[in-house]
Amino acid sequence: MLLLVALGIVFSLTAAATEKAEVTTNKPAVPLFNFSRIYLPPEHVPYFLNNNKRVAKLCHLDPLCPFKDALQSQSVCWGYEKNCDSKKRFSYPVCTKADSGWVQSLDAARELFWKQADFGYVKERIAELKTLCKPDKPGDSSLRCSSHTRFCRATNLYLDLRKPRRSHERYKEDFTHTGEIGGHCQLNRHALAAEGDHKSPLQSW
Ligand SMILES: *[C@@H]1O[C@H](CO)[C@@H](O)[C@H](O)[C@H]1NC(C)=O
Repeated sequence: MLLLVALGIVFSLTAAATEKAEVTTNKPAVPLFNFSRIYLPPEHVPYFLNNNKRVAKLCHLDPLCPFKDALQSQSVCWGYEKNCDSKKRFSYPVCTKADSGWVQSLDAARELFWKQADFGYVKERIAELKTLCKPDKPGDSSLRCSSHTRFCRATNLYLDLRKPRRSHERYKEDFTHTGEIGGHCQLNRHALAAEGDHKSPLQSW
């Protein structure tokens, strides 16, 4: 569950990066960006700015940007980013003992923990992301999922809930029928079906 929350944070930060702002002059009468919208613990700001270069640039240009100090922290990263220098990453587990039934060495224990319960997990899921429904133009629908559709991000899909099929059967999986979910994008049916291999009731437990 925590991991899902972590993924949620990662993706909402990415979404925050796509806000619109216009760079007009170096000394703007109106602020280039409303920096009060970045409501993060101060120690997280350098990581945010390094993942949102456009905001970092606006901060650099804006004499009133409250995050000037954070701009000094060169290339710090959470750990899941491409090109994240392992020396600059946010954290890495510290282990004092490795259980031989689990891993062979302390280094392997740290790596395994990082991949299963830390940002290494996010890195692997991001690497798996595949477009299952491809938009033709901005504003179209889309569907992107990691392996086995364990994590998905969809835009502009519709669900037609006008004729709900309620019954006493608890784990009914044919809740939506043909035509009741859709959008405007090119669906890769084969890929979507292939990723459905882990789907079954109670998988979110
Ligand atoms: C800037 O953002 C804050 C927090 O979202 C909001 O309260 C404030 O009204 C915004 N200021 C402007 C000028 O848009």
